[in-house]
Amino acid sequence: MLLTTFLLTFALLSIVYLYLKRKYFTLVGPLPGLPPRFLFGNLLDVDILKGEPLVNVYAKLQQTYGDVCQFWAGPDHFYMFSKVEHFQHIFTHRNIYDLADVSIRFFGLQMPSSLLAIKGEQFKRHARVMLPMFKKNKVISHVNTIIDCTDKLIHLWRHEQPEELNENIVQQSKSLLLDIIGFIAFDYDLQTVEQSEQDEKKELTKALNIFINMHHTIMQAAFVPTILFKWWLKLNLRYQNALKTLQYTAYSIIAKESEYTGHQVKPKNLISMLVSSLQKNEEDERKKSEVDKYGLSRAELLDEILLSIGAGFETTSTALAWFIYYMSKHAHIQEKIKQELRANNIMAQTYLNIELLDKLTYVDCVMKEVLRYAPIIDCTVRTLTQDDEIDGIKLKKGESVLMAFYNVHMDKRYWNLDPQQFIPERFLSEDKNHHPLALGTFGGGHRACAGQDLARLELKIIITRLMQYVTFIDGGQEKNSGGKQQSLTCTPKNVAVYIQFD
Ligand code: HEM
Repeated sequence: MLLTTFLLTFALLSIVYLYLKRKYFTLVGPLPGLPPRFLFGNLLDVDILKGEPLVNVYAKLQQTYGDVCQFWAGPDHFYMFSKVEHFQHIFTHRNIYDLADVSIRFFGLQMPSSLLAIKGEQFKRHARVMLPMFKKNKVISHVNTIIDCTDKLIHLWRHEQPEELNENIVQQSKSLLLDIIGFIAFDYDLQTVEQSEQDEKKELTKALNIFINMHHTIMQAAFVPTILFKWWLKLNLRYQNALKTLQYTAYSIIAKESEYTGHQVKPKNLISMLVSSLQKNEEDERKKSEVDKYGLSRAELLDEILLSIGAGFETTSTALAWFIYYMSKHAHIQEKIKQELRANNIMAQTYLNIELLDKLTYVDCVMKEVLRYAPIIDCTVRTLTQDDEIDGIKLKKGESVLMAFYNVHMDKRYWNLDPQQFIPERFLSEDKNHHPLALGTFGGGHRACAGQDLARLELKIIITRLMQYVTFIDGGQEKNSGGKQQSLTCTPKNVAVYIQFD
């Protein structure tokens, strides 16, 4: 009896194993790729679990297998593409290529009702509220806020033993961008740059970091089934407390904002816009079909707030940290920026405005080159909603395509000047007319980065403001060696610069 039970269990487990192995962990069709391992897919072979930067992984895959290959992150299978022509096809067929299932799964664990986890009619309803807030005409009203926050960082550097080597650039960039998004989105002073002594705000910053770092953990442990993660998040006291802090803060900001909304003619920041879109009667809205629904529920609004903070500071601060690192290595580029400022009569005390900023074409080039050269984000992904074919490759509904846009940033086929070199001037000369998708930092198509206008404005102002006052000096090859540190984004690993006041 015991033996029969044992044999039956063994047979059953073997069938389940073989089914899973065949369905999730076997090369699909004729395309090349690393054979996937059970549960882990390719995560072990390409060292992702050891922290290997994703841009390096995709570059190696392209070198080994060519422009189209297969890749497994745990049980998730992707066709990886590395040509702009392929990106163009995917981005222009929005009816076929929609938000990736993997994005819905991962972001859905933490923010199930945010833009990054919804599609179809629900996405359209949220997009109507969210997208206009980040458009250029809206974000230019925040120029002064961005300048003021940057000035706080400059002030901190001036008073914090300026002659010492600064090895805290990545963290300080994060604090600055967190402060900025706090003001822009919520009119709320998070005071992360000044390291406020007010416990409540420290608590909030800590909670935000726990929330955002959790996302990285989830992505890294892609092989863990979602259901286990759901429970783990529920039972993780540290995470739950952080979430409570965030919810409490967000709801008190909402409550404060609701008092004003009646008096305002036009919502001026993201939170006012969001609050003014709150559903009047959630019960009634729930009963309607998605197409007929109007506005956002409180839970949806909270998720959008969390997404705006997360997406709004992590990526842009990474770009800023890379900028500072590159400047410390390219003194002549800093000098050229300063020359451009002088040529436009922008001195240390000059208060910047949009007209002045618009004149700074070389700063634009430097910014673009940072966005091309820095491995901030490695790729974006879409899932097919119907069968399709790219370049003779047959793709089925439900499969996912990964666009490795950093591979394209470094591909000689799309750049006339050596793409492995940091050359801002390329955008004034040989590479002026590059293919738009050869610079894919913000993704593309209908799910392109919603905050790209804001990110560009923030970066341009911060870069210009910093260059009005300081020069970054290389802190030596040993400590200022760059390298890559993969988390949600890819930040420089070792940055150590002297900050010299001009
Ligand atoms: C240098 C800074 C930034 C980079 C490199 C960046 C990059 C990206 C990328 C690659 C995507 C996916 C696009 C795609 O799949 O095609 C994305 C999506 C998104 N980003 Fe950004 N981003 C930045 C700044 C921001 C900022 C400042 C905000 C807002 C405060 C923001 C909000 C969003 C949102 C809401 C989405 C989801 C859009 C959707 O799914 O429809 N991002 N971003």
